Amino acid sequence: MKKILAIGGSNSKQSINKQFAVWAANELDGVDVEIIDLNDFEMPIYGIDKENEHGIPPEAHDFKSIVKNSDGVVLSLAEHNGSYSAAFKNITDWVSRIEKGTWAGKPMLLLATSPGGRGGQGVLSTAKAAMPHQGAELSGTFSLPAFGSNFDATVGISSDELRVEFQKQLALFKEAIG
Ligand SMILES: Cc1cc2nc3c(=O)[nH]c(=O)nc-3n(C[C@H](O)[C@H](O)[C@H](O)COP(=O)(O)O)c2cc1C
Repeated sequence: MKKILAIGGSNSKQSINKQFAVWAANELDGVDVEIIDLNDFEMPIYGIDKENEHGIPPEAHDFKSIVKNSDGVVLSLAEHNGSYSAAFKNITDWVSRIEKGTWAGKPMLLLATSPGGRGGQGVLSTAKAAMPHQGAELSGTFSLPAFGSNFDATVGISSDELRVEFQKQLALFKEAIG
């Protein structure tokens, strides 16, 4: 069975992005979903001096091997001041120092959601441009605006229009994981 990682790009215990990523990954039939909690990969704030003095923390190596041992990644990004959350960016900075290609060539369904009407479109457009350079095979992107109104814990995306668009992007990801 294919192993798919569900990652919320946030360290919030109540993360709506984690909730969204887990739901999205479970929309795929017949896959094994592994939920990644960024709190399990907390490391010092990346700095070249810290790296030179202490090396790359084991949590970064752990994260990298989890990615390598997966068949694809469903990542939903939280938007903080128009960009990545510090928790997410710190992990990718450390992991990027291990070797080229942080995402190990894996297919990625790239999502974002926020309570507001823009649905994390700022961070999503940054990530869309960046992920292919960081070793992700970008295979679908989708932003869910106004999470509180458009997502329901039991049915998932509650707006028909948004659900149809999401399913199109999910189909692209499904094709990529084979
Ligand atoms: C420091 C900070 C900055 C934020 N900046 C933005 C922002 O630029 N755009 C936005 O839509 N929401 C912003 N928000 C609101 C987040 O979208 C909201 O907290 C959301 O729940 C984050 O996702 P999460 O629940 O997965 O952590 C910000 C929240 C925090 C705490």
